[in-house]
Amino acid sequence: MEALACAKLNLTLDVLGKRADGYHELRMVMTSIDLADRLTLEFGSGAGVSIRTNLGFLPSDKRNLAWLAADAFSKTSGKPVDGLSIAIDKHIPVCAGMAGGSSDAAAVLRALNQWAGEPLSPPELARTGEQVGSDVPYCVLGGTALAEGRGERLTALHSLPACWVVVCKPEFSVSTPELFAQIDRVKLRRRPDTTGMLEALAQGDLAGAARRMYNVFEDVLPERRYSTVASIKNMLIQCGALGATMSGTGPTAFGLFDQEESARQAWKTLSGEYRDTFLAHTV
Ligand code: C5P
Repeated sequence: MEALACAKLNLTLDVLGKRADGYHELRMVMTSIDLADRLTLEFGSGAGVSIRTNLGFLPSDKRNLAWLAADAFSKTSGKPVDGLSIAIDKHIPVCAGMAGGSSDAAAVLRALNQWAGEPLSPPELARTGEQVGSDVPYCVLGGTALAEGRGERLTALHSLPACWVVVCKPEFSVSTPELFAQIDRVKLRRRPDTTGMLEALAQGDLAGAARRMYNVFEDVLPERRYSTVASIKNMLIQCGALGATMSGTGPTAFGLFDQEESARQAWKTLSGEYRDTFLAHTV
C-alpha cells in the first residue's frame, strides 16, 4: 500500500491555559499542504513491525510515531499487524512544527484501516490516533479544521481558499515540551483573532484569513531565534505574501500567496539562505 502524509500548518495557534493532566488547552486552526512524506506499507513473513526511513537519524522502533500507530491500530481493531514493514520517504522537515511524525502516524492508521476492511469508523480512527499524539487526530482528518482541547476536538471548516504557500524552516530545531513549559511563564502580549479567522474562512476570504494568522509561540522563542523567524516572515511579506506566521511550536514560518509569480520569487529568495524552503500548495 502507498500512503501520502501531508504536512499541516497552523493558521492560528492559541494556548488558553494549562490543564490538570499537564497538557495545555489549545485553540488552533490548521490546514494541510501538499508537502508530504510518502509511505509504503508491505506485509511479509517476519514478526512485529519494522520501519525504514531515508533519514538515518530517525528511530525505527517504538520511538517512531508510525510504529506506535501500527501498534495502536492492532490493539484497537484486534487485527494483528505482524510482518508489517513501513518505508517512509521523508520530505517534511523533522521537528519543524508541521506535524511530520504525526502525519506519518495518521497515514499508517488510514492505510491499515483500509487494508483491514474499515473496521474502525473515522471518529474511532481519530481516537486511536489520540493515543499516539495530540496532532494525530487532526492529521487523520486533514483539510482545514479547528482543533480544541488537547488538539483532539475537531471541527471541519471551509477549506482555506486555494493558494501558493512558501514554507521555510531555519536550521535550528525547537523542543515542543520546552516551549510549552516556557509559555506558562510569560504573559502573552497578543492573541490570534480565531473568531475572525473562522469568519474569513466561512466567507472564502483568503486575504482576510492570511491577515489574521498568528501563533502565540512566536512570543516565547528565545530572542535570536525569534529574530530569524521574524526575518523570514518579513522576507515573505516583502515578496508579496498576504500574511505570514510560524507553524506549531516552530521554527517553520510560512506565507500565503495569491500570485504564483510572487510565491516563486519568495521561494527563490529564501532558498538562497535556507536549505529547507518549499513551494507548496493547499490541499
Ligand atoms: O501529544 P504529544 O506527545 O504530541 O505532545 C508533545 C508534548 O507537547 C507534550 O508532552 C506536552 O509537553 C506538549 N503539549 C501540551 N499540550 C497539548 C499538546 C502538547 O502541553 N495540548
